[in-house]
Amino acid sequence: MAAPVALLLLFLVAAVAAAPAVVAAEMPRLEHPHKGDGSLALLAVGDWGRRGAYNQSVVAAQMGIVGEKMGIDFVISTGDNFYKNGLTGVDDKAFEESFSDIYTAKSLQKPWYTVLGNHDYRGDALAQLSPVLRKVDSRWICIKSFVVSAEIADFFFVDTTPFVLKYWTDPKNSKYDWRGVSPRETYIANVVKDLEDALKQSKAPWKIVVGHHAIRSVSQHGDTKELLQHLLPILKAHGVDLYLNGHDHCLEHISSRDSKLQYLTSGAGSKAWRGVRTANEDKVEFFYDGQGFMSLRLTAAEASVAFYDVAGEVLHAWTVAKPATGY
Ligand SMILES: *[C@@H]1O[C@H](CO)[C@@H](O)[C@H](O)[C@H]1NC(C)=O
Repeated sequence: MAAPVALLLLFLVAAVAAAPAVVAAEMPRLEHPHKGDGSLALLAVGDWGRRGAYNQSVVAAQMGIVGEKMGIDFVISTGDNFYKNGLTGVDDKAFEESFSDIYTAKSLQKPWYTVLGNHDYRGDALAQLSPVLRKVDSRWICIKSFVVSAEIADFFFVDTTPFVLKYWTDPKNSKYDWRGVSPRETYIANVVKDLEDALKQSKAPWKIVVGHHAIRSVSQHGDTKELLQHLLPILKAHGVDLYLNGHDHCLEHISSRDSKLQYLTSGAGSKAWRGVRTANEDKVEFFYDGQGFMSLRLTAAEASVAFYDVAGEVLHAWTVAKPATGY
């Protein structure tokens, strides 16, 4: 038995030595069963944790109602979970005050699959990733990059904050918690490689990528050029259907002009009304500057997206069949 192990070690050492910059690791993979009828329903919200202020509690209440109607299976948080500077540690009461005590509806007592946003990196980023929080509230599942597999759909959660160069170079941004991330080049090369591997392996009809930062946006922050460069070509090459993000405090649906990819922003969980709207190279199907959230219902044959405001009113709905035609 010793010889094969030694051989394997030798192989691993050689592989690492040959490519020191990119040490691919498999993205953690969680299984989430779809419903008995083969469908899946979820809500997505981003940029929320303000102890209920700026309509956070109102959005939460409407999520509870829509969640109940749809019988949701889980919630996706697109990041910026705790303002202004993430959590101070695993014992920060903001976790309860902005999460557990706000999203109290019965229908929202489901797993919350969560990524980190740039504001989360300004506190103790590792605290949000700690399993200790799961003891405080068992819904909380926050991992830097991971896959949730529901058979009819694979969800690829990507840690986008480290991609954005200005967080590293702007002297105003010295507070970022880069433990386990720095140096940037190596980290993002690994994330890209791991995502590409996971997309290649995916056999699910629907491929959905989730990150905090927008690839396409017409609001305050606009497109994220680092993601246009590093992420977008991979998403197009591997037939990703939806890219879902927060960061801009609004609701958006933008469709790609040269692929089936749809860009969905759900970053309106609390403070909104930025009063900014710019142009975009891709096609803007819908933009709302105020608070709200998004729902997604999937079957193997069809995906339906809807955006809601603080009154629970449907502002925009869009449905696509699989296989998508025209590309
Ligand atoms: C709360 O939502 C209402 C309805 O959209 C809006 O008029 C109001 O300005 C919002 N409050 C804040 C603080 O954004």
